[in-house]
Amino acid sequence: MWQSFLQIHSLQISLLRVTVCSMEQESLTQLIQTGHQDYSQALEEQALELGISVIRERNKLKLTRPIELLSEEKIRSTLKRPVNLELFWSIDSTNSYLMNSTDPFMGYRVCLAEQQIAGRGRRGRTWVSPFGDNLYMSIARRFKRSTTDLGGLSLAVGMQVAKALRQCGIQQIGLKWPNDIILGQGKLAGILVEISPLVADEFNVVVGIGVNTRFRDEDAKLIDQPFSTLEGIMDLSRNDLAGNLINGVLEGLDSFARDGFASFYPEWDKFNLYAGKKVFVHLGDSIISGQDAGIDLGGNFKLKTEDGIRIFNAGEISLRVE
Ligand code: BTN
Repeated sequence: MWQSFLQIHSLQISLLRVTVCSMEQESLTQLIQTGHQDYSQALEEQALELGISVIRERNKLKLTRPIELLSEEKIRSTLKRPVNLELFWSIDSTNSYLMNSTDPFMGYRVCLAEQQIAGRGRRGRTWVSPFGDNLYMSIARRFKRSTTDLGGLSLAVGMQVAKALRQCGIQQIGLKWPNDIILGQGKLAGILVEISPLVADEFNVVVGIGVNTRFRDEDAKLIDQPFSTLEGIMDLSRNDLAGNLINGVLEGLDSFARDGFASFYPEWDKFNLYAGKKVFVHLGDSIISGQDAGIDLGGNFKLKTEDGIRIFNAGEISLRVE
C-alpha cells in the first residue's frame, strides 16, 4: 500500500510530507532515525523502493549507513527570518513544484525534498537526486522587474551559495561561470534559476540549488560530469547546511531586488576560479578558445581571443576548461 501511495503521489508531484501519517511511514521513519527496526518484508520493500540501502540481520532490518532526515525544526533554528518552508520525502522536482504552483504568496517560499524523481539541471540535464543524500532545495520569490533586469541573477545566486559554503568552513569553494560551484576537480553544487511571468511587470523567480553531500556508488554512476561531494571533507549536517544556504540566498535575492547585479559585479573575481586561464567556449557546434577575461556589468562572459574580446551570455554557450 505504501509503495503505490509513493509511486502515485510522487508522480503527482507532492504529498509525501515529512509528517508521519501512517503506520508504514512511521516504521520507515523509525528505521531511518534509529538505524534499525523489526524486520518485515513490507518495510524492506518500502526502503528499497526509496533507494535506502538496508540489510537483514536475523529479525532486524538495519540501515547500511546512517541518514540524517531533513527537519523543519532544525532548519528553522538556523534561519534568520520566517519563511514558508515545505519539506517532502519524494517529489518530481522542487523547482517544478514551485514553478507550477498557483498559490499567491508574498515573501519567500522554500521547498526541500529527500528525493527528486525528476530532478532537473541546466541545459536540459538530469540532476541525480537519490533519497536522504545531498540537498535538493528551491526558493521562490516575486520580482518586480523586467526580464532583462534579471541578467546576472544566476551569477549573484552562485556567489551567495559559494559565500555560504565558505562560511560553513569549505574555504576552497570557487565558481565556474555562470554559477557552477566547484570543489577540487568537480562540481559540488549546481544552480537552476527559472523565471515565469505572473502579472504585469511581476515575475515568479525560482532558484533551485543542489549540493552533493555524498552518493552511493550506484547513484554516482548516473552522473555524466566530474563531480565532488562533501564526504570526507566536512561532516556538515544537511539541516545546518540548508539553513545557512537559505539565509545566504535570501539576503542575496533581497539585495538583487534592491540594486540589481551592481553590488555583485565587483565581487566576481573573488570567486572566479578560471580568471586569466585558457578556456573553451562551446557555441553550437563550434569551439572557440581564449582567455577568461571575467564578466561585464550584466554578468555576461568575456573571452579574450586573438581578435579581441568577445561577449557571450549564459543561454548560448557552455564553458569548458579543457
Ligand atoms: C545545474 O545543472 O548545475 C543545476 C542543478 C540544479 C539542481 C537543483 S536540485 C533542486 C532543484 N530542483 C531541480 O529539479 N533542480 C534544482
